[in-house]
Amino acid sequence: MKPRGPLMIEHRLIERMLKIVQVKIAAMRESGKADPVFIDTVVDFVRTYADRTHHGKEEDILFKLLAEKPMSETDRAIMRELLDEHVFGRNIVKALVAAKDDYLAGNGEAVAVIVQQLETLAKFYPEHIKKEDKVFFPSTEKLFSQEELDRLLRDFFEFDQRMIHEKYESVVAGLKE
Ligand SMILES: [Fe+2]
Ligand SMILES: [Fe+2]
Repeated sequence: MKPRGPLMIEHRLIERMLKIVQVKIAAMRESGKADPVFIDTVVDFVRTYADRTHHGKEEDILFKLLAEKPMSETDRAIMRELLDEHVFGRNIVKALVAAKDDYLAGNGEAVAVIVQQLETLAKFYPEHIKKEDKVFFPSTEKLFSQEELDRLLRDFFEFDQRMIHEKYESVVAGLKE
């Protein structure tokens, strides 16, 4: 398997989640009510899986090694865009959490903000994935030797192994002992 393999498998799960988000958006629009438990699930999924685990491998391993390579100006520009989009996603999640807190505090108007943030996420992220799957990954993969491709894959697996431990350490750290 090439290093883009695990990343593309993760993209498929993120897409499945975003499809569910679309269905929930329609339900929230119809009822005028938000579902705070679902929002918590989405936030946890995006933060732990999409951002820490998935973007973590892209940013800390793949992009880092690529930065040392003679990338084309186009690829370099795309990598900057991708990094900006990761930040954009983090900001959506922050706004989503703030709107959910607002909603739980009794502000019914926050539903519109929640819907708007979820919609932005569900619309922009599939485009981000497409850019990586169809353009950036295939184009930049050519810059690596077979040895480097193998090493990337190994580094990805090692990175993933840490994630479940990191996640539950942070869960416990967030609780009062
Ligand atoms: Fe990405
Ligand atoms: Fe990605």
